[in-house]
Amino acid sequence: MTLQSINIPDEIRELSLATDAADLIDRATKRIEAFMLERDSVTENFVRCDFQLLDQSLSWIQQNHLLTGNRFCELGSGFGVAALLASLRGMESVGIEIESYLVEQASDLADAVDLPAEFYCGSFIPRGISDIVDLGSDVEHVETHEDDVYEEIGLDMDDFDLFFAFPWPGEEHFFEAVFQAGAADNSLLITYRGRDGMHLIRKSSHQ
Ligand SMILES: C[S@@+](CC[C@H](N)C(=O)[O-])C[C@H]1O[C@@H](n2cnc3c(N)ncnc32)[C@H](O)[C@@H]1O
Repeated sequence: MTLQSINIPDEIRELSLATDAADLIDRATKRIEAFMLERDSVTENFVRCDFQLLDQSLSWIQQNHLLTGNRFCELGSGFGVAALLASLRGMESVGIEIESYLVEQASDLADAVDLPAEFYCGSFIPRGISDIVDLGSDVEHVETHEDDVYEEIGLDMDDFDLFFAFPWPGEEHFFEAVFQAGAADNSLLITYRGRDGMHLIRKSSHQ
């Protein structure tokens, strides 16, 4: 089983955003900024991604028919903007987040914009991944314990077609290892890499 890179062209930055996606991003950005200002302590693990670029990437993935199905999962969902953007595109969308106060924020935002994405509190790491302790040994910004949250969702990790994650720099390999171990053949993982933009891979049975 290999992970194949799929190059997302830089030109996607020229794709215009749909009005409802731009409104969602605007609304989410204001909520995130207000939330950060209100909190006395800095939420060390919570950083925002380039949601505009993410929506352009989702557009490109759909336009190029790269999906094998319609289920989307945001791994470590924060305010849930990625899951909501996927929901706006008609995908059956969930977010998994370890911090309950962020699950509340994402669920409130979903209600406010009237989208059916669902958010679950727990660890996105399913049970039974071999070597998870070794894989997570150099990872500082992800909770590396396994969980039963997929049971609560009513779907297994290998029922999803597209995953999104925003890893801390240098911790991308952990998300890729969990994806490789738990996701279905031919499913996709898109990660946000800061200045390097979006990175897309497919789990493939071809060498
Ligand atoms: C960099 S933030 C990204 C938030 C959101 N995806 C975004 O792009 O705006 C990473 C999130 O992953 C969460 N997290 C860390 N380990 C997790 C785990 N094992 N399961 C679920 N969430 C996790 C953190 O609490 C944090 O909200």
